[in-house]
Amino acid sequence: MFILFVYICCVNFYVNVLNIAKNFNKVNRFIFLIYLLIIGMGNNRRLFLKNLGLATAAAAVMPSAFSKEVKKADFLKRTSQNQQTNDKVIRLALIGAGGMGVADSITALSHNNIEMIAVCDLYSGRLDDAKSRWGGQLFVTKDYKDILKREDIDAVIIGTPDHWHKQISIDALKAGKHVYCEKPMVHSVEEGKDVINAWKGSGKIFMVGSQGLSSLGNEKAKELLEAGAIGEINYAEGFWARNSPEGAWQYTIPEDASPETVDWNRYIANTTKRPFDAMRFFRWRNYQDYGTGMAGDLFVHLFSSLHFITNSLGPNKVSATGGLRYWKDGREVPDVLLGMFDYPKTVQHPPFNLSLRCNFVDGTSGGTYLKIVGSKGSMDVKWDEVVLKRNANVASDDPFFAEKAKEGVNSQTDRKQIIAPLETVYTAQEGYKGAHYDHFANFFNAIRTNGTVVEDPVFGFRAAAPALLCNDSYYQNKFINWDPVNMKIVKS
Ligand SMILES: NC(=O)c1ccc[n+]([C@@H]2O[C@H](COP(=O)([O-])OP(=O)(O)OC[C@H]3O[C@@H](n4cnc5c(N)ncnc54)[C@H](O)[C@@H]3O)[C@@H](O)[C@H]2O)c1
Repeated sequence: MFILFVYICCVNFYVNVLNIAKNFNKVNRFIFLIYLLIIGMGNNRRLFLKNLGLATAAAAVMPSAFSKEVKKADFLKRTSQNQQTNDKVIRLALIGAGGMGVADSITALSHNNIEMIAVCDLYSGRLDDAKSRWGGQLFVTKDYKDILKREDIDAVIIGTPDHWHKQISIDALKAGKHVYCEKPMVHSVEEGKDVINAWKGSGKIFMVGSQGLSSLGNEKAKELLEAGAIGEINYAEGFWARNSPEGAWQYTIPEDASPETVDWNRYIANTTKRPFDAMRFFRWRNYQDYGTGMAGDLFVHLFSSLHFITNSLGPNKVSATGGLRYWKDGREVPDVLLGMFDYPKTVQHPPFNLSLRCNFVDGTSGGTYLKIVGSKGSMDVKWDEVVLKRNANVASDDPFFAEKAKEGVNSQTDRKQIIAPLETVYTAQEGYKGAHYDHFANFFNAIRTNGTVVEDPVFGFRAAAPALLCNDSYYQNKFINWDPVNMKIVKS
């Protein structure tokens, strides 16, 4: 009986070990099995387990980032946030059915068990579009309060211009709706705490829409920074470069735009009273009453990603400069903007500097990026890719530095060096559904489980505030001091 018991244990043990070997490639599996055989023949089970433990531990701590060659390393495709078909149905309404509101809704509806019940917009053409997109049964209105009154709506997506974010968010929370509000969370720094307080008392889920921080790319960058892959962060930079009328916010104005098709009075109900102006309605980003300029529109994305990756609460000093260089179409905001920010030392990170720029007359660079620089390397962070560059330890080809190096006491200039890997590229696995999908997955999951989201109003305000303060710095021509912990301006 005892022999039988020992025999079963042994078989079970080797089956488990063979299962481990299944994960190896052919050559490694062969080597592993030979190794197993030798250990087995020697009947030294204790030694085998010890060696196996060491090998496993080594594999676990060996970051692929430090491998020798330039290589492509796939992320795992995200599966854990995929909804199940039996999930509770979440009924949505869209408030502000323009470009982003519709794009958000399409992403939201690509999840299982999500329904679009109602749409609110101030322009009749967008309500007609919504009906043809989502069916004649859709409830449509020009007054968002009609939507909030309905009991068959669980959550609202807010895709209006920035000057309506605060009021609609607060009213929606008060009406018991979950909120997915597009960035920037608020139109001015003074509005931030009102939204936070309304959310805290509501028991509802509130997600702000800077979707990049839900991306695989941002998650990988966070993981690499925490693992010390670039050493200690000391600098970050980001930019947005565009060179087209649409990129510079000169959108097409519909031919039927008029006070009959647009509810102008409702649009300006919370801001300066003016006669109907189609430019101010359809190209709202160009005007301070409704938009938040390049900083509120674009810098805010980079703040969101940077704060997520570094666990930072934000900068304590903000400055901006720029100008209106080309798109002189009556706009009130610059088309070239540079921002500089000091991040103080905190328990989460050492002190570092951030430089952001945005250029709508950019004839060369194109695109956007976020680069994070540390003492040992840097990362170019995109939503679906991270390029990690490590110090190459290659001697400078500058003759001055070569001479200076020779002055070192123990310098042995002819000795070759170990060269660190130059670059590791992490790319999202094919079929990755993207950050917008992931952001909604996080939102819906939080609603269904009464959980938390990655970009709640506190996070959203800490990302929006330094962006909005860029505008204050630019227009007031001064540095602005900000308390990122207590989220308030520090008077100088
Ligand atoms: N996360 C992103 O990547 C991203 C991208 C683009 C825009 N956005 C944000 O999305 C929001 C909308 O931008 P957009 O480009 O879609 O603008 P848009 O002009 O295309 O759409 C805005 C819509 O809101 C409607 N509207 C205005 N006031 C309203 C009100 N009080 N009630 C109901 N509807 C109202 C307008 O009629 C318009 O159809 C902005 O806050 C913007 O910053 C985010």
